[in-house]
Amino acid sequence: MTALRIDGKQMAIDIRAEVAEGVARLKADKNVTPGLVAVLVGDDPASAVYVRNKGIACEEAGMFSETINLPADTTQKDLQELVANLNEDERFHGVLVQLPLPPQIDERTIIQSINPNKDVDGMHPVSTGLLLEGNPRFLPATPAGVQQMLIRTGNDPSGKHVVIVGRSNIVGKPLAALLMQKNPGANATVTVVHTGTSNIGAYTLQADIVIAAVGRANAITADMVKEGAVVIDVGINRVQDATRKSGYRLVGDVAYEEVFEKASAITPVPGGVGPMTIAMLLQNTLRAAEYSADA
Ligand code: GUN
Repeated sequence: MTALRIDGKQMAIDIRAEVAEGVARLKADKNVTPGLVAVLVGDDPASAVYVRNKGIACEEAGMFSETINLPADTTQKDLQELVANLNEDERFHGVLVQLPLPPQIDERTIIQSINPNKDVDGMHPVSTGLLLEGNPRFLPATPAGVQQMLIRTGNDPSGKHVVIVGRSNIVGKPLAALLMQKNPGANATVTVVHTGTSNIGAYTLQADIVIAAVGRANAITADMVKEGAVVIDVGINRVQDATRKSGYRLVGDVAYEEVFEKASAITPVPGGVGPMTIAMLLQNTLRAAEYSADA
């Protein structure tokens, strides 16, 4: 079997167009323009690219967007005060603090200082708790994107065995909570394996759907995947490549070429899960504005 290559770029374009329609409707019906503010501390180049892309995507969807750049030596107190002000600022329905933060700042405290009604990143413990009890408000962007990729390619996880490789707070854990819910587009039997699992392949071989969120190139090889499985690759890893001007290229966690021969559908890297995350962030921002307009 060779796989369907799941085009995350096109799917993200489609979702962003749907969000833009929702934004136009909200403006027309309620005279509310959804607004997102992103806070970037320091000058990590990858974070700067993410934040710039978020801003562009917001504007393309008809939203209001602002980026606040702070120096790398910003104090915890100053960042907390800024977040407190943004929590009160009615122009912004979503408040996002880009991670990672510099070492003098405690990320957990900052995330917890965001108004849960503006937590469009879905990282506040209130968002996590609502998700776990099966009543989600804001889903974190990557798990939400993975779920959409399954649903929109006709691979509804209901009744399937999903094996998630990785237990991070931002991907593995919320994805497990999301896909095990007794809800449409979920209702899966979920197994989570991780660095403490002695034989990961023994579990992934039983999976109808494998989701790789490991953070290591080639962590999932063809011998670990059942014939006809659906494979979603959340990884983004740099590997050296002397043929590239940059000296590296981006790959996922899955050995793409060999798994492609065995899977029924697979996401590429780049162009798979990555583009979906911004689309889902926009969807959350629209939702936050809709909630506030209805409040
Ligand atoms: N850094 C990398 N991914 C993310 C994300 O989804 N949200 C935030 N706030 N920071 C990130």
